[in-house]
Amino acid sequence: MPKFPFMEFNEKTISTNLGTKVFGQRILFFKSIKSTMDYAKKIAERDEPEGTVVIADYQSHGRGRFGRIWKANPGENILMSIILRPKIPLERFSIFPFLSAVAVAESIEKNANIKVTTKWPNDLLINGKKFCGILMEASITAESGDFIILGIGINVNQSEFPPEIRDYATSLYLSTGKIYDRTELVKDILRQLEINYENLNKSNDFKSVFERWKKRCKMLGKKIKVIQGGKEITGKAIDVDDMGFLLLEDDNSRIIKLSSGDVTVLK
Ligand code: BTN
Repeated sequence: MPKFPFMEFNEKTISTNLGTKVFGQRILFFKSIKSTMDYAKKIAERDEPEGTVVIADYQSHGRGRFGRIWKANPGENILMSIILRPKIPLERFSIFPFLSAVAVAESIEKNANIKVTTKWPNDLLINGKKFCGILMEASITAESGDFIILGIGINVNQSEFPPEIRDYATSLYLSTGKIYDRTELVKDILRQLEINYENLNKSNDFKSVFERWKKRCKMLGKKIKVIQGGKEITGKAIDVDDMGFLLLEDDNSRIIKLSSGDVTVLK
């Protein structure tokens, strides 16, 4: 017996009245899949168009950053990967996780009436706990052109997390006490993603994407610890530049530029 039988969640319900031009014009829905990332990559290599969404109710091998596992209970969350074929130079692709984080934050804030903050590089938090992770994988191919797979995992209706992440993870349900219709949420996120993506394509205004991301970021100006490739660096988070690098001032007042890592805000 499904836990939320009143809420149908599949490609048909998501497509109905979606109203986008590109994002979600093709939706491939799976009750269970290994990882939507792998499937999306496979079909993108075979010319699947931009905006195609691979979405699942459950992933047996969901992937997070740094080869970690992304665990999510079946039937309760949003697990999707979107194919993008950006027309901008490859070295600027780093904008897309930030653009997506802003779009998801804007949509969730509107739908759940709750404040959403960003954490570098690609996490979304509610009251300091992570409820959404974003994973970007870029492929450079001669045959089907450069493409990006944008993976978005959102904890929606999950009410319990494994002990090892319980202190750091939350869901919309745990944060607001309400159950959400995932179909409506996914639709709204796809619409918001399309708006933000189109705006960037028209304006080339990278700065405003980062400004919107930074407005939501609570770690800037704070002392932080970053773990990168097994190395630990502490310092003050100064800024995130227009390429998505974190600028950290270390204890010797040197500015260090970081491209990735795991951040903990220190007291
Ligand atoms: C992170 O480590 O924070 C990124 C998590 C990304 C998880 C999503 S869920 C949908 C897509 N499929 C995957 O296997 N991973 C991403």
